[in-house]
Amino acid sequence: MGLNELQRSIIELKEEKNAVLLVHNYQIPEIQDIADYLGDSLQLCRLAQRVEDAELIVFCGVDFMAETAAILNPDKKVIIPSQKACCPMAAMLPMSTLREAKERHPEAPVVLYVNTLAEAKAEATVVCTSSNADRIVAKLGADKVIFGPDRNLAYYVERRVHDIELVVVPDDGYCSVHRFMGGGDEAMELKRIHPGAEVWAHPECEPEFQDRADYVLSTGGMARRAVESDATVFIVGTEQGLIDRLSREHPHKTFLPAKSGSECAAMKRIDLGNLYEALLKEQHVVTVPKNTADKAREAIERMLLMS
Ligand code: 13P
Ligand code: SF4
Repeated sequence: MGLNELQRSIIELKEEKNAVLLVHNYQIPEIQDIADYLGDSLQLCRLAQRVEDAELIVFCGVDFMAETAAILNPDKKVIIPSQKACCPMAAMLPMSTLREAKERHPEAPVVLYVNTLAEAKAEATVVCTSSNADRIVAKLGADKVIFGPDRNLAYYVERRVHDIELVVVPDDGYCSVHRFMGGGDEAMELKRIHPGAEVWAHPECEPEFQDRADYVLSTGGMARRAVESDATVFIVGTEQGLIDRLSREHPHKTFLPAKSGSECAAMKRIDLGNLYEALLKEQHVVTVPKNTADKAREAIERMLLMS
């Protein structure tokens, strides 16, 4: 793999500063190429727990992911290359809505998607990601669970757990990137052209698309399925960065977007230029107030123990 000059300078600087580069599957290929670790939200949470030797954590992903790494590493400096890399879904759960739901259902545990801000996580019983949400909810052994903020992930969980009522907060939390894929009409049209192809939807996709897909998988689940499956064509219902990753890792297989133009603008705020500058100046430092971090850490660590 030939690296460009900026990529080589980043690697040099990273080594000089004993930094570790954690990269989400939705980042641009040039950043994926130089990642120390590349993965989905759950894998990156786990890795953030195991970076004792690094002095600096550079998180190439969105705000809530970098915050999670900072919460798990209170004694380390965590930086994110762009302060504009903010996931809109994570900002969709107002604290007042969450607290009202807790008051109305005091007996119900609170399961929050990792795509939330630290303040909300601090109010949760346990956090979940798209790769463990159903198992986490089932394991709690409760009749009723407060769940948020993604309505489509709630649908995914409801289809897989039985006799558990989900109180979903807010009414309509969603990811616009996955909502943009609609009911999966374009994916089905592609399947007609490639009858042997597998159709994958992410749990953030609309219910109709989830129901029509062959598999509903997190981005990490998609990466595993690409290795296991005998199919050679895949219609991928998630963000372009994962398609870039899989196309590079499996050059003899074909990965087609379920809907063209499915890009997460927040993830794409990070580029080689601001990554280099971030490393050089050790900016932008992610901080979470101690009280909030201590409570949020419990909910995150509970998830890591349960999954
Ligand atoms: P994954 O946990 O599947 O990587 O998803 C993260 C995310 O933000 C999806 O939009
Ligand atoms: Fe947030 Fe959607 Fe982007 Fe994921 S793809 S980071 S949920 S906006």
